[in-house]
Amino acid sequence: LRHLTTLEHLPRETIERLLDRAMAMRDACAHGTRKIDLLAGRTVLNLFFEPSTRTRTSFELAARRLGADVVNFDIGFSSANKGEELYDTLHTLEAMHLDAIIVRHKVSGTPDELVRHAMSGVSVINAGDGNRAHPTQGLLDALTIRQHRPDFENLSVAICGDVKHSRVARSDVHALSALGVRDIRLCGPASLMPAAEEFPQCRLIEDFDQAIEGVDAVIMLRLQKERMAQTDLPDEAAYFRQYGLDTARLARARKGCLVMHPGPINRGIEIASDVADGAQSRILEQVGNGVFVRMAVLGELLAR
Ligand code: CP
Repeated sequence: LRHLTTLEHLPRETIERLLDRAMAMRDACAHGTRKIDLLAGRTVLNLFFEPSTRTRTSFELAARRLGADVVNFDIGFSSANKGEELYDTLHTLEAMHLDAIIVRHKVSGTPDELVRHAMSGVSVINAGDGNRAHPTQGLLDALTIRQHRPDFENLSVAICGDVKHSRVARSDVHALSALGVRDIRLCGPASLMPAAEEFPQCRLIEDFDQAIEGVDAVIMLRLQKERMAQTDLPDEAAYFRQYGLDTARLARARKGCLVMHPGPINRGIEIASDVADGAQSRILEQVGNGVFVRMAVLGELLAR
């Protein structure tokens, strides 16, 4: 791999190799290794045009643990605010000899545009573009599920909430279907569901009680308010009653069902606090796996 902008069409063996690499990174860290000098002398740039806590921090940690230098580009104090165009910013930064650009942008397709414009030798990693893709989130979600339920062929997974605006849902579907999951259910109110043709590999179910019945993992999604018109925002109390994950709803899933959420979570809107913090919650495990998956991706793309 040279770039990672989406998981769509990525072969199963590539995804499995990245998950295996992430496990190897996790094992090395569990045995006390704090630094693996795989990327010594390499420079990685975090270029985030949208806010982030988990992705940006874990990419930084991942790169540092591999011995790379990290530059966190601060958009708020950059010349982008003086009208500099994206590609001028890109070429300016490239002139400082970068090895990888990790980009998050509200416009879908921006990472691929950067690939087309980037100088040879620079790898582009998508940290989330619009509602299109968040490939490292898809990988870390797949890794979290694999650690508990490795039998992908026989898994049922429900992805619930604002699917329409979710890049996480898209990358999760790409990862899980490539790994062999046959029963993927997408659930949300009609106004927040994608067109069925976009997801021929999934079942679209509007009723949450029906969608969660017997599943092995449920991935809850945040309302992506930043991608909605003000008039499309659902009433939050009514939304929670119909689409919030509480203990009663979780009881409809298979015993021990994994509760997942990419974060940030909105307590009392898409998930009840006692479920988010409960014994079945894997949410913080997902965050921890994010570091190992990002180490794996950086290693795969940049190691000589
Ligand atoms: N899951 C995720 O992308 O979280 P951040 O927006 O905090 O990076």
